[in-house]
Amino acid sequence: MSNKRVLLIICGGIAAYKSLDLIRRLKERGVAVRVVMTEAAQRFITPLAAGAIVGERVFTDLFDQAQEFDIGHIRLARECDLVIVAPATADFMAKAAHGLANDLASAVLLATDKPVLMAPAMNPRMWANQATQHNFSILQARGYHVVGPNAGEMAERGEAGVGRMAEPLEIRDAALALLKDGPLKGNRALVTAGPTIEAIDPVRFLSNRSSGKQGYAIAAALAELGADVTLVSGPTALAAPLGVKRINVESARDMLAACETALPADVAICVAAVADWRPSAAVSEKIKKDKSGVPAIALKENPDILATLSKPGKKRPKLVIGFAAETNDVETHARAKIVKKGCDWIVANDVSGDVMGGADNQVLLITQNSAEAWPRMSKDAVARKLAAAIASALTAKAPRRK
Ligand code: C5P
Repeated sequence: MSNKRVLLIICGGIAAYKSLDLIRRLKERGVAVRVVMTEAAQRFITPLAAGAIVGERVFTDLFDQAQEFDIGHIRLARECDLVIVAPATADFMAKAAHGLANDLASAVLLATDKPVLMAPAMNPRMWANQATQHNFSILQARGYHVVGPNAGEMAERGEAGVGRMAEPLEIRDAALALLKDGPLKGNRALVTAGPTIEAIDPVRFLSNRSSGKQGYAIAAALAELGADVTLVSGPTALAAPLGVKRINVESARDMLAACETALPADVAICVAAVADWRPSAAVSEKIKKDKSGVPAIALKENPDILATLSKPGKKRPKLVIGFAAETNDVETHARAKIVKKGCDWIVANDVSGDVMGGADNQVLLITQNSAEAWPRMSKDAVARKLAAAIASALTAKAPRRK
């Protein structure tokens, strides 16, 4: 990590004292650290203390002529590989979510084009407040990476809950993962995962039992290899993997729209269990039980996301991969699916056993001219092996495609 540079923004919370240790931990790994402190941060720790650990001046003032001439907020924002905000206070997250830039820290954040890692820290009620949660979801959707907050005792006596800043070592590890150069660095990946839900009326829907585990594992494995990953996910109980931009959707049509917005991508992997059909008319009022007996729900076909992304054209990803859940003649059906959908590879699995919702998977990777049976392994291991295969295809001179 000796060539990596981090810009650390320290905001005003009691956890700011831990940021001094974070600087030390990053430097131990050879990461160069530059520090910006908000005015409130300076009430908790001094620029002198942070400066002594980083070994250079700490930046605090947007309107200080000497500081602006010395480095300036635009250079601070650009001359780094990663921006870390630790602690990220409720106030700073609110400013960031809405694009305010009235001090050095917020101006730097608005001006940066580098990845951002936030370590929120605040009282549990402030964290749980709808305003903070709304701001947090805006930042997540924008692709900000987040570590913590953790559950535990607060600095305030007798208070406990979720809101403690992640420990310096956790923040450091999250930062190192984001700084790592992998074989997929510079490549954009689009992954769909989870089920879709299709409204019958405002309270009822059609869906399926997909857990999203395999798709999330693939998104995480691609990010670990350095790809810039967008995960378009139906409702699941899973947390967004570190370093992945998650877009939450419900219906197949929303999933398709989110995928099209996420293009261009170098690789698209459709893992979602998209509902094949949706009620042809989603009713805007709850269907009453007493009206005219059992209602008939007419269905119509949903768009096929994999087939749409596979269509030839300027925006087609270089490599499009689908999944096939089969119960018999897995390879034959999977080959037919490559042709029908127009994709490049199919990862086929036999779902006659306990794969749906389980932790393990056993797959066959079918490409245009090969079929590779992988032994039974965890979904995480399948994801890492698939990510490695994607990396070698994308980094080969001419990736295999139709
Ligand atoms: O046609 P089938 O559902 O068997 O195909 C499975 C593959 O197609 C999976 O990769 C799934 O994510 C994708 N798919 C899709 N949109 C649909 C149906 C399936 O992207 N409407």
